[in-house]
Amino acid sequence: MGGYAEYVVIGDDNLAKLSDVIDFPTGAIVACAVGTSYNAVCDTGQVKQAERVLVTGAGGLGMHAVQIARAAGAFVIASTRSPGKEPALTEAGAHKVVVAPDGRFAGGVRDASGGRGVDVAIDTVGGAVFHEIRRSMVPGGRIVLVGEVTGKPVDIDIATIYRRGLQIRSAVSTSRRQLEMVLRMVAAGSVKPMVDRTMPLEQAAEAHRLVEDNAVVGRIVLLP
Ligand SMILES: NC(=O)c1ccc[n+]([C@@H]2O[C@H](COP(=O)([O-])OP(=O)(O)OC[C@H]3O[C@@H](n4cnc5c(N)ncnc54)[C@H](OP(=O)(O)O)[C@@H]3O)[C@@H](O)[C@H]2O)c1
Repeated sequence: MGGYAEYVVIGDDNLAKLSDVIDFPTGAIVACAVGTSYNAVCDTGQVKQAERVLVTGAGGLGMHAVQIARAAGAFVIASTRSPGKEPALTEAGAHKVVVAPDGRFAGGVRDASGGRGVDVAIDTVGGAVFHEIRRSMVPGGRIVLVGEVTGKPVDIDIATIYRRGLQIRSAVSTSRRQLEMVLRMVAAGSVKPMVDRTMPLEQAAEAHRLVEDNAVVGRIVLLP
């Protein structure tokens, strides 16, 4: 909100120093795309070594959540509707990519996890995929809600959640500690912020069109 303002006032608790090895376009996406993913995967999702983790949606958040889950030692399964994003997801660290243009990925995720399902789901898509995620989970699995791209409400039979002991958590934004942590990971090369391209501010409308057309891998950075 207010991302296009010429000036913003923020508290000093929201500031972190950018190391010399991180340029400004890269630094520009670290807080939102990488820090939120770290929050979701490590702090909220509490992903542990060798757990099976599903990341839904190969957008700005999803691409980084895959990298962070891999860095946390998980077995990472990514789901996408877009066949063209499979190579980027694999390069980001996904052990398996389930491409489901119709959005029905639960069967593929179960197969990719040896028939067992996943321990944790990091969901960057929202209501459109909620039931597919539910069907992808092991009993007691943790679903971490981070995004909602369609705004469609979800019809839910609560019993389908508690009967299998599923946990629903959510993650928002990035604390200063999380931001400093991901900046260290980026500087060390263990996470690579994915800037699809930079564009001049005058082309903001075109940048929005590219995002809406799902033609972006990672994030676009507008240069003032
Ligand atoms: N919690 C937080 O603090 C926080 C922080 C940042 C962003 N967000 C929210 O997180 C969401 C994702 O952000 P983002 O930057 O990753 O967005 P994005 O770059 O636009 O990516 C969203 C991805 O969702 C998938 N998708 C879109 N429509 C879909 C549909 N109808 N069904 C299934 N998949 C669909 C697409 O991936 P595929 O092509 O792979 O299917 C798309 O690339 C947004 O709602 C954003 O507001 C939340």
